[in-house]
Amino acid sequence: MFLKRFYVVTLLAGAVLGQDAIMATGTNFTLTGDAMSYLFHVDHASGDLIGDHFGGPTSDFTPPASIFSGGWHDALSNARREFPDIGRSDFRLPAIHIEHADGDTVSAFLYQSHEIVQGKPSLPGLPATYGEVGNVTTLIVQLYDNVSDVSAALSYSIFPQYNAIARSFSIRNNGSGDIVIDRASSFSTDFPNVDLEMIEPHGDWAHEFQTVKRKVEYGETTFRSSEGYSSHLHNPFFALVSPTTTEATGEAWGFSLIWTGSFAATAERFSNGYVRVLMGLNPLHTNIRVAPGASFQSPEAVGIYSSQGVGGMSRSFHDLYRNHLSRSKFTHETRPILLNSWEGLGFDINETSLVTLAGEAEDLGVQLFVNDDGWFGTTYPRNNDTLGLGDWTPNPAKFPDGLQPYVAAINKITVLNETSALQFGIWVEPEMVNPNSTLYTEHPEWVLHAGKHQRTLTRNQLVLNVGLPEVQDFIISTVSRILDSANIQYVKWDNNRGMHELSRPADDYTYILGLYRVIDNLTTRYPDVLWEGCASGGGRFDPGLLHYWPQHWTSDNTDAANRLTIQMGTSLVYPPSAMGCHISAIPNGLTHRNISIEYRGHVAMMCGSFGLELNPSELSPEEADVVPGIMAQAKRVNPMVISGNFYRLRHPDSSNWPGVQFVSADKASSVVFAFQQQYVVKPAAPPLRLQGLDAGARYRNDLDNGTYSGATYMNGGLNIAFPMGDYQSTLIWLERQ
Ligand SMILES: *[C@@H]1O[C@H](CO)[C@@H](O)[C@H](O)[C@H]1NC(C)=O
Ligand SMILES: *[C@@H]1O[C@H](CO)[C@@H](O)[C@H](O)[C@H]1NC(C)=O
Ligand SMILES: *[C@@H]1O[C@H](CO)[C@@H](O)[C@H](O)[C@H]1NC(C)=O
Ligand SMILES: *[C@@H]1O[C@H](CO)[C@@H](O)[C@H](O)[C@H]1NC(C)=O
Ligand SMILES: *[C@@H]1O[C@H](CO)[C@@H](O)[C@H](O)[C@H]1NC(C)=O
Ligand SMILES: *[C@@H]1O[C@H](CO)[C@@H](O)[C@H](O)[C@H]1NC(C)=O
Ligand SMILES: *[C@@H]1O[C@H](CO)[C@@H](O)[C@H](O)[C@H]1NC(C)=O
Ligand SMILES: *[C@@H]1O[C@H](CO)[C@@H](O)[C@H](O)[C@H]1NC(C)=O
Ligand SMILES: *[C@@H]1O[C@H](CO)[C@@H](O)[C@H](O)[C@H]1NC(C)=O
Ligand SMILES: *[C@@H]1O[C@H](CO)[C@@H](O)[C@H](O)[C@H]1NC(C)=O
Ligand SMILES: *[C@@H]1O[C@H](CO)[C@@H](O)[C@H](O)[C@H]1NC(C)=O
Repeated sequence: MFLKRFYVVTLLAGAVLGQDAIMATGTNFTLTGDAMSYLFHVDHASGDLIGDHFGGPTSDFTPPASIFSGGWHDALSNARREFPDIGRSDFRLPAIHIEHADGDTVSAFLYQSHEIVQGKPSLPGLPATYGEVGNVTTLIVQLYDNVSDVSAALSYSIFPQYNAIARSFSIRNNGSGDIVIDRASSFSTDFPNVDLEMIEPHGDWAHEFQTVKRKVEYGETTFRSSEGYSSHLHNPFFALVSPTTTEATGEAWGFSLIWTGSFAATAERFSNGYVRVLMGLNPLHTNIRVAPGASFQSPEAVGIYSSQGVGGMSRSFHDLYRNHLSRSKFTHETRPILLNSWEGLGFDINETSLVTLAGEAEDLGVQLFVNDDGWFGTTYPRNNDTLGLGDWTPNPAKFPDGLQPYVAAINKITVLNETSALQFGIWVEPEMVNPNSTLYTEHPEWVLHAGKHQRTLTRNQLVLNVGLPEVQDFIISTVSRILDSANIQYVKWDNNRGMHELSRPADDYTYILGLYRVIDNLTTRYPDVLWEGCASGGGRFDPGLLHYWPQHWTSDNTDAANRLTIQMGTSLVYPPSAMGCHISAIPNGLTHRNISIEYRGHVAMMCGSFGLELNPSELSPEEADVVPGIMAQAKRVNPMVISGNFYRLRHPDSSNWPGVQFVSADKASSVVFAFQQQYVVKPAAPPLRLQGLDAGARYRNDLDNGTYSGATYMNGGLNIAFPMGDYQSTLIWLERQ
């Protein structure tokens, strides 16, 4: 029986402040966003939490669907549950699966009490959304399994402005023996019997964030990463949409997990048509022991509802993640134009050749010079990828006096048209080691390994077990020593393989917690360093790392045609302001495709961190002529990318004429990127209909210099005359008059 005397209702301070983001009427809970409601209640007979609604605004609790309850499926099988456990007649996948101290795996988490707090408590040791009182309100529901003496605290934080709910839970072992958590889904909710389609990212190295859409049928529609990291293969995100939803209209729900390790995402349709959503840890890598008196804290997952199509959902994620997830001071700042030494010099570097390259970079207007791989290793000089990883001491043959005088020489260069010094950045891959290294010779036990099983090499390297405190301390002190040794203003933190030999399934979980400890420490100590994540491209482009680092390298594929698709996909959930994108040389190293420098420039400047990944001395005369103009355009566009609203106008997978648009927050200006993939004699390019403008205002454009109403641009559109030839692009500015 559910016991009334257990209620704790904290009087809603919000009511006094004029806010009603969370209301508890008895134990009926209403979470209200600007254009969204999330309703659930306690079933008084059982104490179970039952879901009522997640969608557009509603104001009443109404009776659930009537489902014939004969046959094998009764009671909980036909309920919409908030925190499904195992046993007790629910045959769908659970959100929580615990092996109790006595070996029993049934759980019965029943309502005990709740409280509402203004603001949002932080999650110890985990990246999470944050917000002040007024931006976010939190409901914490305490559940208890009195058979096993295990409690659960479910947390729901609503950010009304973004129609977003951040969920997580903690499990406390109140018994006297160890329990083991085998499954933990941070977000779990049951949809009624409605038609839904799943939009899901998939891909691979150099092929990130392709998207597929499939119908959510009976059984499980599911994907996961088992690579130890969020990975290229999938990303911890999916959207559910109605079959009629488009980019700009209709209902869309997005689910995003703030976690960098293995994960699992599922939509399961049961016989009654209900669809259970689960987003959380991958059970294959979840076997987490919790001692008596100890707790397990799940990662956080965010659910967002939009009635403005897939684009509306994406923009809510962009704003939530820029304003309430990313904590770097650079998040809201324009980023320096960078040149990376890799394409130009590879491993064949030394102080002289790098300073020369930096001088050439400066002639183009580059503001940040990045020294990529190859700068370290003494006994095992990093002259190629077979050795040196782990030995983070500058190679004396390449830098006779260490990094300090070299970086000082870079800083003596003044940026073109500016008074500021050329900044210096460096590449590291501190979670990895080559067997050919002093570090491995001294600490072979520090790598992930499973007993006597062979330690599988990828790219000639092994993974340090960042779950070990001594490895965490090693990385913290090594990276700190590098940063203290010279004026380093940017770090590219790479990670180039997945986890192979996990001795215990939960080694991945412990590793990721250790990684967060390391990165939290370093970003707190070096807040003025601009950190960029990289994992063979977008292998860890996830909200966990975006909490600490403001940007991530999007893909090792810099072919502008492929990149457009990858960037569009990435923008489903992550803001373009967080993407790193560079112009590289042609023919492209991967695809051998030749695309004009303008098109490559336009695709790269759609991202917050724009740069060059080429040898300036190898630019053709025609390219060299237009590069200064492209650099100037990129600088002008950057503030729009950093703080503007982003619209996918047409997608390269479904149109020969893709387009995107940024609109400033005050709607006073907008920049449009329009592309033609293949030249065709017929048909005509369709008008490019814009979005997000003030319909009644008049905007002047620099395409035909006309001044038209926002409504004209949005309902009529722009007719763009592309020149003949494949891969043409244009950039159009609109200014409100
Ligand atoms: C657990 O709680 C239920 C419902 O309140 C009650 O019926 C049952 O007796 C309790 N069991 C134990 C072991 O306390
Ligand atoms: C809670 O909602 C149920 C319907 O789900 C309704 O029957 C009940 O009266 C509501 N309780 C309160 C206290 O409003
Ligand atoms: C958070 O709330 C404060 C106070 O209401 C407001 O000034 C601020 O703009 C909000 N921040 C965001 C990012 O919405
Ligand atoms: C959990 O155990 C502590 C003592 O270890 C006890 O005080 C507390 O009441 C228990 N909690 C519940 C919900 O039974
Ligand atoms: C630096 O590298 C360049 C290019 O490989 C080479 O020509 C030059 O001799 C090197 N300088 C030193 C001091 O090693
Ligand atoms: C530098 O200034 C020149 C002359 O004003 C201008 O043409 C060029 O575009 C500028 N370059 C950059 C990168 O700002
Ligand atoms: C890699 O560099 C080392 C050290 O300079 C050298 O001995 C080795 O031959 C190189 N290996 C390859 C495959 O180039
Ligand atoms: C160690 O380095 C040598 C020289 O480059 C290379 O031939 C060998 O394959 C490397 N060993 C491993 C395990 O990568
Ligand atoms: C970072 O970790 C070191 C030990 O590895 C510790 O001394 C220091 O206090 C930590 N700093 C922060 C900001 O967490
Ligand atoms: C690309 O351009 C290069 C140099 O201009 C040329 O040699 C090559 O054939 C071109 N490749 C393609 C696929 O057009
Ligand atoms: C638009 O105006 C600019 C500046 O006044 C001019 O350079 C450009 O040629 C004009 N474009 C058209 C299509 O009239």
